[in-house]
Amino acid sequence: MPKGYNNDVELLRQNEYPHMNNGVYLDHSGTTIYAKSTVDSFASKMITNLYGNPHSENSPAKLSGDVVDQVREKTLNFLGASPQEFDLVFVANATAAIKLVADSFRDLAEKTRDRRFWYGYHKDAHTSIVGVREFTHGQSHCFETDQEVERWLYSPGTSAVNRHNPTGLGLFAYPGQSNMTGRRLPLSWSRKLRQSEHLQNTYTLLDAAALAMTFPMEKVFQDADRAPDFTCLSLYKIFGFPDVGALVVRKESGHILTLRKYFGGGTVSMVATLGENWHRSKGLQAPTYKLHEGLEDGTLPFHSILALGEAIDVHKRLYGSMDRISDHTSYLVARLHRGMIALCHANGQPLVRVYNENKDFENPSRQGSAIAFNVFRADGNYVPYSDVEKSANAAGIYIRSGGVCNPGGIFTSLGYEPWMTERALSAGHHCGSHGISIIHRLPTGIVRASLGAMSTKQDVDTFLNFLLKTFAEGLTTVNAAENKNANREKIFSPSLYYLPPPSASSETLLAEDLPAEYTTGAFSEVREVPRPRPLAYHIRTAPDAVPRTPPVPVRDLVHGIAVVR
Ligand SMILES: Cc1ncc(COP(=O)(O)O)c(C=O)c1O
Repeated sequence: MPKGYNNDVELLRQNEYPHMNNGVYLDHSGTTIYAKSTVDSFASKMITNLYGNPHSENSPAKLSGDVVDQVREKTLNFLGASPQEFDLVFVANATAAIKLVADSFRDLAEKTRDRRFWYGYHKDAHTSIVGVREFTHGQSHCFETDQEVERWLYSPGTSAVNRHNPTGLGLFAYPGQSNMTGRRLPLSWSRKLRQSEHLQNTYTLLDAAALAMTFPMEKVFQDADRAPDFTCLSLYKIFGFPDVGALVVRKESGHILTLRKYFGGGTVSMVATLGENWHRSKGLQAPTYKLHEGLEDGTLPFHSILALGEAIDVHKRLYGSMDRISDHTSYLVARLHRGMIALCHANGQPLVRVYNENKDFENPSRQGSAIAFNVFRADGNYVPYSDVEKSANAAGIYIRSGGVCNPGGIFTSLGYEPWMTERALSAGHHCGSHGISIIHRLPTGIVRASLGAMSTKQDVDTFLNFLLKTFAEGLTTVNAAENKNANREKIFSPSLYYLPPPSASSETLLAEDLPAEYTTGAFSEVREVPRPRPLAYHIRTAPDAVPRTPPVPVRDLVHGIAVVR
């Protein structure tokens, strides 16, 4: 059960997130938002110190090198990963971390008998995880359910996973949290895999890009024997800034990455070029060099790493712990879910369909801070997801729609068979919110609303209110513009517009989900209720993506940055 809302966030939003004032930001799964203090303290350090390229030996270079070392350790500590057991490789983003692991496996696989490795991935995986399969010469398998993964872990020799040699070199990857539905997947699989006699040459890659945003990662790293071999992260999704990623490597397994072929400036100790072609990879010279020294090609983003150190300090000061954030976002996502499934048209037709195999939105070990859904008209037909995003954008509510880079999740949730996916392609559909939204009455994507550490109850309630006012049909007794403050009881009368969800009584809904501070004032010009229109086979709509309000004036941000304390 979610423990509760962090009331301090209300004040934090005023003081630390003035740049969030002009709208309701609900795309934290894309990136969360940085605190003003992070930018201030980063700017302060930048203009009071001189930072050089850490590959040099001069003092400014040494300062950068020291910062990188300290922040590496600070980041591991923040994640609850002991620096004795884990190393952290700085990369551009989660995708770069995945690619680094994939490159290593591809290179090593050249030395296996059939010159390829096996790759298994879960259907909830992000596109960046799916892409690794292209290195396997066809020896990959997509697990369609958690149960299929469990069966394979229990009995790898007999499971049909398209693997010629069950004991050969392999990699199994899955997301800790679906970036589409927010569903959290079991964290026990790495341990089970490591304990399997057959799977001793199969390694685990946990994609924690979505999970780490609002989850205490010490639960992943507290015991190195149970932890994934490799864990990829996009740190901007936790802190909002800077835009860097990380690969956390279990030291006992990390040596396998050092067998990759490519080297760049910084990852070799010697290179011969004239007459002979040899080099000495730092990765193979432990303990002289640490694991990360053999994996970080080229100059690190040392200014960004400096900013990361500031971001971690500010984050701790503002929020205390990831547990607190997890409780807060769990509370909010449960509130959003309960509110959404209670919305309906005047004729009783539900307004939204939420996609998730997980029915327990109140349980943070099963559900993260995102919800995937589509909107229905009163006649049961779908509203194009791109229209929902477009209307929300016009109302100053920032959400995401489309395929959200989760092909397996999208097509299983929407009930697509392989031929239908091909038909969508042949009809001219493509990922993103500019594709064809509806083909033969079936959506090709979803709408996603996602919450972060600094989201508030009001963000959630404003969004519910927007859905109701914009898409619910038959509310002819209510003119939304006239009823900004008056007739509130009428607008939110559960008997008219809300149906209690199966698990909650209408009293609970009124007391908990339709609070007094529920307001429509900030978004008075939300769109008219859409009129039913003839259904084309292929409905293509594209948002014009014009924000309702102008962005925060640049001057203000600059002023904020310039305040050096
Ligand atoms: C679960 C998951 N994996 C991978 C990624 C890719 O992250 P990045 O674009 O930072 O490489 C994302 C981004 O949204 C994600 O949510």
